[in-house]
Amino acid sequence: MPVVRALYIFAMSKGKILVTGGCGYIGSHTIVDLIESGYDVVSVDNLSNGDEAVLEGVAKITGVAVENHIIDLADRVSTLRLFHEGQFDGVIHFAALKLVGESVHQPIQYFHNNLNSLLHVVEGMEATNCRNLIFSSSCSVYGNSDELPVTEQTPRQQAESPYARTKQMGEDILMDYCRVHPEFKTALLRYFNPAGAHSSAIIGESSSNPPSNLVPVITETAIGKRQEMTVFGDDYNTRDGSCVRDYIYIMDLARAHTLALDYLIQDQQTSNCEIFNLGTGNGVSVLEAIHAFEMVSSQKLNYRIGARRMGDVVSIYANYDKAAEALGWHPEHDIKDIMRTAWEWEQVRG
Ligand code: NAD
Ligand code: WQD
Repeated sequence: MPVVRALYIFAMSKGKILVTGGCGYIGSHTIVDLIESGYDVVSVDNLSNGDEAVLEGVAKITGVAVENHIIDLADRVSTLRLFHEGQFDGVIHFAALKLVGESVHQPIQYFHNNLNSLLHVVEGMEATNCRNLIFSSSCSVYGNSDELPVTEQTPRQQAESPYARTKQMGEDILMDYCRVHPEFKTALLRYFNPAGAHSSAIIGESSSNPPSNLVPVITETAIGKRQEMTVFGDDYNTRDGSCVRDYIYIMDLARAHTLALDYLIQDQQTSNCEIFNLGTGNGVSVLEAIHAFEMVSSQKLNYRIGARRMGDVVSIYANYDKAAEALGWHPEHDIKDIMRTAWEWEQVRG
C-alpha cells in the first residue's frame, strides 16, 4: 500500500481495536479489512496455532505494521495488564482452539482455553470501560437442525462436540453478561464454512495442524501433499448424495466484522447482544465443491468416495437476512472465487 494511503489511514483512525487471535486465519484477514476501513489494530496471539509471519503479509498488503502481543488469554494477570496498557475502543475475539475432533479427545483443554480466554477478555473490557465486543461463534451451535436455511431464531440443538459446546457456552456467557450490563454491546457472529484466501495470495489459511477442512484438503491433494482425498459419503439424502455446506469467502467474512464493529460503535443495535448468521445462503455439496475446484484450476482431482464421517451434519446453510438488513452486508464471492484464491495460495506457499 502506498505511504500516502497508510498516512491517511493513520490520520483518520476510527478507533483502536484489539484483535485476539490476530495471527490466525480469520483474524489476519479481518485485520486487513479493519486497517483498510480506517481502524487502528493491535493483535494478541499466543501462537498456539498462529504465526507472527502472517502479520508481515498483512503489512505487505496494507502498508501498516501491526503489533502482536504474545500472551495466553487464559492467563488472567497478563490479559488484564494488556487491557490496562492498551485502552481499546473495541475487541474482536477470535482466539480459540477450533478442532472439532481434537476437542472430543481433549475436552478440558478446550473448555479451559476457550472459556477462560473469553472470561478474561470480558473482565479486561469491564475494567477499562471498553464496551464493544465481537465474538466468533459458529454454525456448529445449531447442531443437527431440522430447519433449513437456519435463521438466528432457529433453536440451537445439542452440541455435537466439546468445541461446539464452548461456542454455545460462550454465547450464553455473553447473553447473561449483557442482561446486567446494558452499557456493554456485543455481536455474536455465527460463521458457516469460511474458506479461500486474500486475492493477493500473500495471506491465506495455514495452521500448525494438518488441515481437515474440505477446501485445504482439496488444494493439498491437487498440489500433491496428499495422494488422494476421500469424499465422506455419497449416500445422503441430498441432490448428489454428498453433504451440503455454506462456504463463505474469507474476505466477505472479514468485511462483516468491520461492519459489525461500525454498527456497535455507532450505537445502531436494537439490543445490546445481537446474533448474526454469516453465510451466503447457498448450500454447496462436497461433489459440487470439488467440481468448482476442477473448473477453476483446470486440474483433475484424485478423490474417491468413502464412508460417512462420524458426526457430520447432512445439510446446513444460512439465512443471512439479518446481517443484510442491519449491517448492510452482502457476500460478493462464490465457491469458484473461494477455490481460485485457495488454489493460488496453495501454489504460492508451496
Ligand atoms: P485459527 O486457529 O487460525 O486462529 C485462532 C488464533 O487464536 C490462533 O492464531 C491461535 O494461536 C490463537 N489462540 C488460541 N488460543 C489462544 C489463547 N488462549 N491466547 C491467545 N491466542 C490464542 O482459527 P480461525 O479459523 O482463524 O478461527 C477464529 C475463530 O473463529 C475461532 O474462535 C473459531 O472457533 C471460530 N470459527 C472458525 C471457523 C473455521 O472454520 N475456521 C468456523 C466457525 C468459527
Ligand atoms: C465440509 C464437508 C465433510 C473433508 C467444521 C466444523 C464447524 C465449523 C466449520 C468451526 C463435510 C466433507 C471434508 C474431507 C470430505 N468450524 N469433507 N472430505 O465439518 O462442515 O464444519 O468447520 O466452528 O464447527 O465442524 O467442515 O470442512 O470439515 O467439512 O468429504 O477430506 O466436506 O464430510 O460434509 P464442517 P469441513
